[in-house]
Amino acid sequence: MVSQNIFIFIICEKLKRVYDILKNKKEGLEMSGNSFGELFKITTFGESHGPALGVVIDGVLPGINLKKEDIQKELERRRPGQNIVSTARREADEVEILSGVFENKTTGTPIALLIRNQDAKSKDYQNIKNVFRPGHADFTYWQKYGRRDYRGGGRSSGRETVARVAAGAIAKKILKEQGIDIVAYTLAIGGIRAEKIDLSKIETNILKCPDVLKAKEMVKLVEKVKAGGDSIGGIVEAVISGCPAGVGEPVFEKLEAILSAAVMSIGAVKGIEFGIGFKAGEMTGSQCNDEFYFDQKTKEVVTRSNNAGGILGGISTGANINLRVAVKPTPSIALKQHTVNIEARDVEVEVKGRHDACICPRIVPVVEAMLAIALLDYLLMYKAYLKC
Ligand SMILES: Cc1cc2nc3c(=O)[nH]c(=O)nc-3n(C[C@H](O)[C@H](O)[C@H](O)COP(=O)(O)O)c2cc1C
Repeated sequence: MVSQNIFIFIICEKLKRVYDILKNKKEGLEMSGNSFGELFKITTFGESHGPALGVVIDGVLPGINLKKEDIQKELERRRPGQNIVSTARREADEVEILSGVFENKTTGTPIALLIRNQDAKSKDYQNIKNVFRPGHADFTYWQKYGRRDYRGGGRSSGRETVARVAAGAIAKKILKEQGIDIVAYTLAIGGIRAEKIDLSKIETNILKCPDVLKAKEMVKLVEKVKAGGDSIGGIVEAVISGCPAGVGEPVFEKLEAILSAAVMSIGAVKGIEFGIGFKAGEMTGSQCNDEFYFDQKTKEVVTRSNNAGGILGGISTGANINLRVAVKPTPSIALKQHTVNIEARDVEVEVKGRHDACICPRIVPVVEAMLAIALLDYLLMYKAYLKC
């Protein structure tokens, strides 16, 4: 009875605080939701213009080989300031391993990773201090927390994803040792779509696109849009190969649901589809179903097609898991836009600062990282189940 009353009291207090914020009293709720996963669990911290960003990782077994370079090479792929398409912010993004690793091997204790901010120019954000950028998180953060770190978007900045990529590097390494590979790439930008998927070409162009010819067209488009003070969206595709059949926990923890939660938690991601995706809505059952057969060579049950994207009933089939992610155009643009300020007055805003003209190439390693973190978590659950 006492605990029930305490519970009701806490709920009432929270509701009262929401009411106060909506009434414009500037005291907000705490920010939760900074952790992801159960057995392989990450917690990220830090802001775009704070001293550093970082992540604490729980659930890494002892004895795994881990060097700074394993993490650094993934951070290099996400690093800003590398080309015309991405923000001109120049960050070294050098990772420091604070705990959990001794003599290049994991110890089984929490791994803490730190990446210091070195090139923040906070004065660029002075003109949006009291103004809500259309398309960004300024308005909702202000509504909910009653205050916000406007410098570079604070925690809603794409910079937060550096910590995810650092954690993802460890997850990817563990998965790779078990024969599981995750690769993502830019499939389309502003309607220009890759036709020839040659994975060996992904890292040869600034857009991380597997079709070199289409990549050139895409770069021209991004340059044109950027010159006009605007930004552009695109589609990132990812393929997970080598995932054994049996990963995923129906019904509320179907593998699609878990991978979607991981990927949809990335800023600017507005949609996701698996396998044939939304086209399934235009097909008949006989067109969409993947027929099974017994492969005499491998002695395994496999399917002739993979419209399901490697998942049935929320459980991996053993086929490649493939998915596509819709990435919206960068919200911070130099063009003049209508908005309101914190006093709810109509104003105009032209966003200054350094921004990605197209987020796709920078999101590629983040998508890989989040898929790896979520998949490893469920793989560990599956292995624990097999041991029972
Ligand atoms: C890697 C990465 C880089 C990003 N770069 C920028 C940027 O330069 N400027 C910007 O306004 N938004 C950028 N974003 C998007 C914002 O973080 C995001 O749109 C904002 O937090 C609002 O969240 P929502 O789009 O998910 O609603 C980036 C996101 C990611 C993942």
